[in-house]
Amino acid sequence: MSQVLQQLARDHANMAALLDLLDSELDKVRQGEVADFELMRDIMVYMTRYPDHAHHPVEDLMFRRWMERDENARALAGTLGREHRGLAEKGEALASVLARVVDGAMISREEIETRTRDYSEFLRYHMKIEDEQAFPGSGRALRAEDWEDIASALAEHEDPVFGPVVRDEFRELFASITRGS
Ligand SMILES: [Fe+2]
Ligand SMILES: [Fe+2]
Repeated sequence: MSQVLQQLARDHANMAALLDLLDSELDKVRQGEVADFELMRDIMVYMTRYPDHAHHPVEDLMFRRWMERDENARALAGTLGREHRGLAEKGEALASVLARVVDGAMISREEIETRTRDYSEFLRYHMKIEDEQAFPGSGRALRAEDWEDIASALAEHEDPVFGPVVRDEFRELFASITRGS
């Protein structure tokens, strides 16, 4: 497997771990328990920062090459590209709702539940299709020069939580991940 695909798969594992944390806070919201909205907000700030600005654009580049090399990939690659835009929109909206909750705004439990569940299910489904179809398909179709270009695009970004340096604004989030809660 190319190093690019290995990194993208690691990103998926990281995102899945964050969605697990998000879902466990969502369970608390559902049950009327005290949820950690700051943690939920931080998870969504991360999602709109790294996955939306690094992971997904790198995949878009990879999927464009995949379509060029394999015309049967067009439909799926097109769908995944549109889903990236949908995820970015839903993610921004959820991040903004959670930031308002943390700031003390009155937002219905139902709105928080619906937006969080939609986002989590959408991203999990999207990653599953990539893991099962788009990554293996790209792995078979792309050539060495494609991987070099994609690797340089990937190298322009540093993950602010799971990368070599944990950025200040994500210290609390990082601590929650290490604790597993
Ligand atoms: Fe994706
Ligand atoms: Fe992905």
